[in-house]
Amino acid sequence: MRVLVIGRGGREHAIVWALSKSPKISKLFCAPGNGGIAGLAECVPITELQFEEISTFAKEQAIDLVMVAPDDPLAAGLVDHLESKGIAAFGPRANAAIIEGSKVFMKQLLKKYSIPTAAYESFDAYEPALAYLRSQTAPIVIKADGLAAGKGVTVAQTMEEAEAALKDIMVGQVFGKSAGASVVIEEFLTGQEMSLLAFVDGSTVRLMVPSQDHKPIFDNDKGPNTGGMGTYSPLPHIPESIVQEALVNIVQPTADAMVAEGRPFKGVLYAGLILTPNGVKTIEFNARFGDPETQVILPRLKTDLLDIFLAINNGTLAEQPIEWSEQAAVCVIVASPGYPGPYPKGLPITGLDQVQDSLVFHAGTAVDENGQIVTNGGRVLGITGLGKDIVEARQKAYADADRIHFEGKHYRTDIAMKALR
Ligand code: AMP
Ligand code: GLY
Repeated sequence: MRVLVIGRGGREHAIVWALSKSPKISKLFCAPGNGGIAGLAECVPITELQFEEISTFAKEQAIDLVMVAPDDPLAAGLVDHLESKGIAAFGPRANAAIIEGSKVFMKQLLKKYSIPTAAYESFDAYEPALAYLRSQTAPIVIKADGLAAGKGVTVAQTMEEAEAALKDIMVGQVFGKSAGASVVIEEFLTGQEMSLLAFVDGSTVRLMVPSQDHKPIFDNDKGPNTGGMGTYSPLPHIPESIVQEALVNIVQPTADAMVAEGRPFKGVLYAGLILTPNGVKTIEFNARFGDPETQVILPRLKTDLLDIFLAINNGTLAEQPIEWSEQAAVCVIVASPGYPGPYPKGLPITGLDQVQDSLVFHAGTAVDENGQIVTNGGRVLGITGLGKDIVEARQKAYADADRIHFEGKHYRTDIAMKALR
């Protein structure tokens, strides 16, 4: 088969890496890809929202499957577009990707089907939203409705902060006009977070191994949120009973609710969960693989990833064997100086050939005119160590993170420590 993956980050590098092991694939492309993906797939200079260019390329190259990894093209209907041209695509259609693309939709769905989530109200005008907010107390959470590159959520510790966030979203429209047209104001929940991703073909849900992300930039969860500074799997400190509770109370009922709404979800459904004293609750749903969760999940997958994608598209996921390794995986993200604020690009990266035991997934890299790999994004590399347990996987990831250099590189030193305390 000839397969095209859409996207350019560490998640896409991990997906391309997993697919490159499939004996069924004769040719892999990635659009647009990055400096690391280029070693495994032919990178094509077409970007994620260039739908016509993508479908024309897929036709010309006789692509058998287009795998759409990122949220933006899914929400904008790339899968629908490809299907309308007779091209097979993996990922939810726009009417199902809305579970990530609109937080108001997601919250209303969960309320309608009594699926556990934070209590909330939603508003499409500033004045009533402000009046409601003033009747509440901090801490409180303010969320822009639409996609905001992971930055649309403010966990406000004070009412001043909450009011400023609401104003930024609805009046200042800092996330754009449509993403900020509605807001969700919701109850602040406390507890450990867990990322539970599932393969879903409509009504069949098959959980992947659980993982945990680290969103703030600095150790001990200090500083501003990022796209994710590291992940690990499994979660030895979280009992299997909690994962089962999440499946039975949240993930399966959500897949069923989407079917009942006439929006069957086919693809990867990502539940962002919080383990509160009152049970597991939903923070968010994403309509795609997580980044950097994928960089610890797929290295543990023993089954051919392409077979799973095809089973989902054929509606035969229930019969598809899916096997996971017992190994632990820890991914440490190495970021640019200044990230998540402004950062330089084009810094030469050395030491990639010194890496010993880990998988190196490129997130923001490019190859310059001299063939040198350089930085090209905020999150530059994800170093995934594998071992018999979290301790060993961590040691390997950090040892290899230290073998790689670029000016001002930054990483958190406490990835996976929640499992070890
Ligand atoms: P999201 O962009 O929806 O993943 O939210 C970013 C982060 O904000 C989450 O990973 C949580 O740490 C935090 N968060 C979101 N909603 C809540 C909530 N209701 N209570 C506490 N923290 C939250
Ligand atoms: N790791 C968070 C996300 O992919 O949304």
